[in-house]
Order: sequence, then structure tokens, then C-alpha cells
Amino acid sequence: MLATPDDAHRGMRRPTAITPPNGTLGVLTPGLGAVSTTFMAGVELVRKGLAPPVGSLTQLGTIRLGKRTEGRSPLIGQFVPLESLDNLVFGGWDIFPDSAYEAASKAGVLASHHLAEVKGLLSGIWPMKAAFDRAYVKRLDGTHVKTGKTKFDLAEAIKDDIQQFKKESGAQRLVMVWCGSTEVFLTPTEVHADPARFEKAMKTNDPAIAPSMLYAWAAITSGIPFANGAPNLTVDIPALQELAREHDVPVCGKDFKTGQTLLKTILAPGFKARLLGLTGWFSTNILGNRDGEVLDDPGSFRTKEESKLGALEYILQPQLYPQLYGKLCHKVRINYYPPRGDNKEGWDNIDIFGWLGYPMQIKVDFLCRDSILAAPIVLDLVLFLDLAQRAGLRGIQEWLSFYFKSPMCAPELYPEHDLFIQLMKLKNTLRWLRGEDLITHLGAEYYD
Ligand SMILES: NC(=O)c1ccc[n+]([C@@H]2O[C@H](COP(=O)([O-])OP(=O)(O)OC[C@H]3O[C@@H](n4cnc5c(N)ncnc54)[C@H](O)[C@@H]3O)[C@@H](O)[C@H]2O)c1
Repeated sequence: MLATPDDAHRGMRRPTAITPPNGTLGVLTPGLGAVSTTFMAGVELVRKGLAPPVGSLTQLGTIRLGKRTEGRSPLIGQFVPLESLDNLVFGGWDIFPDSAYEAASKAGVLASHHLAEVKGLLSGIWPMKAAFDRAYVKRLDGTHVKTGKTKFDLAEAIKDDIQQFKKESGAQRLVMVWCGSTEVFLTPTEVHADPARFEKAMKTNDPAIAPSMLYAWAAITSGIPFANGAPNLTVDIPALQELAREHDVPVCGKDFKTGQTLLKTILAPGFKARLLGLTGWFSTNILGNRDGEVLDDPGSFRTKEESKLGALEYILQPQLYPQLYGKLCHKVRINYYPPRGDNKEGWDNIDIFGWLGYPMQIKVDFLCRDSILAAPIVLDLVLFLDLAQRAGLRGIQEWLSFYFKSPMCAPELYPEHDLFIQLMKLKNTLRWLRGEDLITHLGAEYYD
């Protein structure tokens, strides 16, 4: 089904039927680093019954249906036809030739007893050669990279990899999730405006085309759903969104909402709900993994900073509440501190004020595990994007904002950052897909 230009404005159409998940679902990740290997290892541990899928809505979440008096709250996985974990197979690309087992061992996220249990699966996953350019990730250098005259040649080579993987793995359907490093900050230009200009720019090696965009283009033009786990521009440009609609491909992004921003989008809606004022929010992070090393470069940090700063502004709406949030000073710092490894520490100092303007302070110190928080997000995105495609949804999937620091949305909208609104939107989308009543929480019917 080809889209007409008007389709973008017609709204999402409710499917009359959702194709059942038959066969195997292949998960492809550009980037075989801490997050992607923790995700793959986790799926295997869960499949073997050796660890619980904590943090995954698709595995543990329930959904209330109908009135509160009906007592209907099935598991989400029983309510919508999601692919089962047993049918997932994995592949990926990286600039380092390490197998997923070696990469997971180096990432240092999982304990050795867990690594031993997944050695069989992970040591069979070898990265395909990456489309990479140091100009976009200054702190990394690897040898396992593709060569080609133009960016278009590299993108075509990624498409060949995809077909090869499909053949070898026997996967019937595929989903791609960008788990590669954070690239330097880019803003949309005219070469991102439509598919023709984008393709021409790939052929002329325009610097506005980053490697992550080549993967996204290859996925979309191969009919494969794409999620962007990093804050890179990647698929957040009109050219790729138009292609996504044309190829009936759902896409979403950007930047997995894991540690500090997750807490921010839990706390800020609470302050706003109680009309408590904010004068300052200072966030600092120390982390010592490869992601931290990449973010030590000012170009990559700028991309992350933009992504991390947006959430508060949108949640607090200072234009509507100038007295409470008009003077907020919001700062975010990330420091690469190798001894901390993947176990990031995120400190927040929050200056709030209450009745009559009296000041108070809140300090949050989150000693988190970055990849442990990110892995269930990858899993949910894989299963939900596959569901979305089988349900005939295409283009930006705003209902998956729940998982992102900088949610993608239609150009005329502002993004929704409030975690609780995002969850309601996600669950209502699932109800809508299945023809169930949406839940508004009005509840007037109980008090006639
Ligand atoms: N862990 C989290 O909580 C979290 C949260 C939000 C976003 N992210 C983002 O997710 C991404 C992955 O994080 P991570 O901790 O796994 O980082 P990582 O450094 O461990 O892994 C990223 C991998 O991507 C590879 N890579 C870089 N450019 C590539 C390219 N063009 N093609 C193929 N491979 C490429 C790198 O060699 C590296 O092995 C990062 O961009 C990070 O900012 C992570």
C-alpha cells in the first residue's frame, strides 16, 4: 500500500485485524555494545528461566479492560499478539570484530555466572562490518568497517547484510534498534527534507548524512521497523519519515529513557501536579563505560545534552506557569569516570519552593546500572514495533514515547514527556488496537 502525501494528515487507522506472529523474529542492532548484549543475554536468561524480565511491560505488565467492577486485567502479552521470546534471533553490526560474548564480557554489566549461561548463544553472534565514520563519533576508532565510494554504497551494503541475515537466520520478520554510539549533534537541513534529496546527498557524501541514517534508510527501504535508542537525529527527519509511510514501516525514537531522565519524568509531573515551584535542577552523572567515553567528546555530549534538557521544559510548561517555572535554571553534566564502569551515578539537586515562596531542596542520588535499565526497553520496543507493523501502523509511533528521552512526534505537536501520560497513551493505544473502550478515568458511571 503506497501512501499519498495526504496520508500523513489522515490519522492512524485502526486495524480490522492484526496478523498473528508466525515464525521467527530477527532483531538487528547496529552497535553490539553494553546495551544490546545485555538485552540479548537477558532474553536468553529469561527463556531459560534463570532470571526475571524485570522492567519489561511486554513481559510483566497488565492492562485493565472495561469498568473497574469487571475485574478484567490480563497480561499485556495475552491481550495483544506479541511474538514470544522463544522466537527471537539476533544479529548486529559493530566497528569492533568481537563476538557478542566478548563484547558482553568487556562491557562488564553481567556477572560471570550469568555470562556462562548465555555463552552458547552470544558466542555465535558475530558483528557484521559497520558503516562508520569517525567524524561522527570522535572518541571511537575501529577496524571492522565497510568501505565504499559513497554513503549510498554503504547503505546498499547494509541492505545486503540484512537480506543475508534473513536468509541465514531463517527470520520471517525483522526489527532494527539503533544501539550504536551517540553521534555528534546535527540539525535537520534541506537534504533531510524528502527522500529524493536524501538519496542524492548519500550519493554525494554530504556531511549531513550520518552513519546511523544509513542504517535507518536501509531498514525502512527493506520494510523493517526502526527504533533509535540514541539521541542522534537519525530517523527524526522528514525524508525518512516519508519513506516509512511509503513502505508501511513503523518508526520511533529517540534516546532510551533510563536513569536520570526516567526519574526526572517521574518527579517533575508530581511537582507540577501539586503546583510546587522550581528555581533550579542541577543534574550530574559519572559513568565509566564506552558510552561515557564517547560522551566525553563535546560533539556527542551536545547531542545527549539537548536530549536530556528537553524533558523538564515540556513537562513544566513555563509559558503557562511563569510564576512557578519561568526562572528555572536547568543544567546537565556528564563526566567520564572510568572506575564506575557501567554502574552510573546520577546526582540531582532540585531547588523547589512552596506556599508563600518558601524554598526547599531535594537531593536524589541514583546509583543505577545503565544497561540493566535499557535492556527491557529494547525488548519492549522490538515486540511493540513488530506488533505495530502486523497491525498496519506506519510512520512515527508516538504511543512508544514512554521509552524515550526525546520522543518523536508529528511536526505540529510538542512531545509528551510525562511518564504517566505516556503510559496511559501506550495502554490506550493497545485498547484501541483491540477495539476495547479507552480508559479516561472519569468514573462518573459508578456514582449515579
Ligand atoms: N545504557 C543506557 O542507559 C542508555 C540510555 C539511553 C541511550 N543510550 C544510548 O544507547 C547507545 C548504546 O549504549 P551502550 O552503553 O551500549 O554503548 P556502547 O559504547 O557499549 O555500545 C555502542 C556500540 O556501538 C558501536 N558503534 C558505534 N558506531 C557504530 C556504527 N556506525 N555502526 C555499528 N556500530 C557502531 C560501538 O563500537 C559500540 O560497541 C548509546 O548511543 C547510548 O547513548 C544508552
